[in-house]
Amino acid sequence: MLKKANDYVKSNYKEESNRPKFHFNSPVGWINDPNGFSVYKGEYHLFYQYHPYSMNWGPMHWGHCKTNDFIKWENLDIALAPDENFDNFGCYSGTAIEYDDKHIIMYTGVFRENYEERQVQCIAIGDGVNYKKSKNNPVITSDLLPKNSSKVDFRDPKLFKDKDTYYSLVANKSEDGSGQLLLFSSTDLNEWKFLNILDKSNNEIGKMWECPDIFNLDDKTIILVSPQNMQATELEFHNGHNTIYLLGELDNNYKFTREIVGKIDYGLDFYAPQSIKTLDGRRIVIGWLQSWDNHILHDDCNWTGIMSLPRELTIKDNKIYQMPIKEISNYYDKTYSIEGEFIGQDLSFKNINGRYIDLFLDINIESDTIFLIKFACDDKFYSSISYNSNTEIFTIDRTYSGLKNDVLTKRDVSVKSIDGILKLRIILDRYSSEIFINEGEKVVSMLFSTDINAKDIKFSFNRKTKISVVNNIIDVN
Ligand code: FRU
Repeated sequence: MLKKANDYVKSNYKEESNRPKFHFNSPVGWINDPNGFSVYKGEYHLFYQYHPYSMNWGPMHWGHCKTNDFIKWENLDIALAPDENFDNFGCYSGTAIEYDDKHIIMYTGVFRENYEERQVQCIAIGDGVNYKKSKNNPVITSDLLPKNSSKVDFRDPKLFKDKDTYYSLVANKSEDGSGQLLLFSSTDLNEWKFLNILDKSNNEIGKMWECPDIFNLDDKTIILVSPQNMQATELEFHNGHNTIYLLGELDNNYKFTREIVGKIDYGLDFYAPQSIKTLDGRRIVIGWLQSWDNHILHDDCNWTGIMSLPRELTIKDNKIYQMPIKEISNYYDKTYSIEGEFIGQDLSFKNINGRYIDLFLDINIESDTIFLIKFACDDKFYSSISYNSNTEIFTIDRTYSGLKNDVLTKRDVSVKSIDGILKLRIILDRYSSEIFINEGEKVVSMLFSTDINAKDIKFSFNRKTKISVVNNIIDVN
């Protein structure tokens, strides 16, 4: 199966001029979650949920790529295929660590038993190119689950090592039908025992929790998790799949005390992030730049799915801030700027345009400022962001980007200007927009679907508004 999948990718991969330039994108067919994001032998490896054979989710393989700078990605052979009786329904999400020269993967094997799905945790060990599933698989089965926990929803292990012990944090559905995070430990990766429940939804933060990650940032412990079936609360959480962080303290007995629940991305397309510590000590995350609640296909591609630009995390006032990976600035090809006071509809400025850009924007906000910025724009199509200082609502909208199916097209975010200025950073890479507000306080990501030639940016201001714009055109060769 592995050979068949690799042969299929090789013979169907198309070098296209229309691929994103600096986001990892699917070679051919479908991708979803990032998996096994890890440092191995001084390089950054990324695996991903992969179904090369169609533009839809199917029996999951683990695709594989690597990078040295998070901008240029090298495709590698698929690492895992669903070819054993404990994973023949799919090799689902998981994580990887480097230990003793080995690249150790822990993933979820899915199979059927009496017509019902079962999820178990499995090990594969590799050398950065080839990966071999352990003979002891599956290593964590439903036998180790707390009483009445779901055997069907038990997945996405986050493997980590502390001193001589391995730990695995696995997402599961508890007796009450909502998410919980189970912590297991082992000294040899083969024999595991259940330790405790690190945190749980109690039906308050969605149903099943998917794809946990856990790490320390400053003196706090952060858990990332992607809950399904959340209900909207004002503008903080939206209906359906969200990606959130739990900020708190973890004591020496692995008891977690949650202090804050925050949101990672306020846009339409971001899910299942994983993090690593870079070689120079930055904590960064990468997510799937799509949502299960939307599925946008582009007519001219035989592939679907991209990863987000990796983001650097920091904590300020007990909240997570995210900024684009700094290496992006190594690829600024040309830089154009303007400054001034403007009023009017659909204003455009020389060289302030493009579909491969990292654009910095400072906008002076008065008590009644309303602005609209259209991007990826031509006479017919556009996507937009807008802001109304009376309501303090920032809106992202792809209704008129050329979509052909009725997916969610708009989202409102609560945003305050700081000292009378709204700082935005807009990163476009062909079909994706990632917008960083107030230097990383909030991030809004959205895919859109517009012909690459629509590259104008048009500004509308209801009153004379002072702005400064710096447009960095990105080229990656
Ligand atoms: C999250 C997820 C994971 C699962 C994988 C299957 O997007 O549903 O929970 O392991 O995708 O592809």
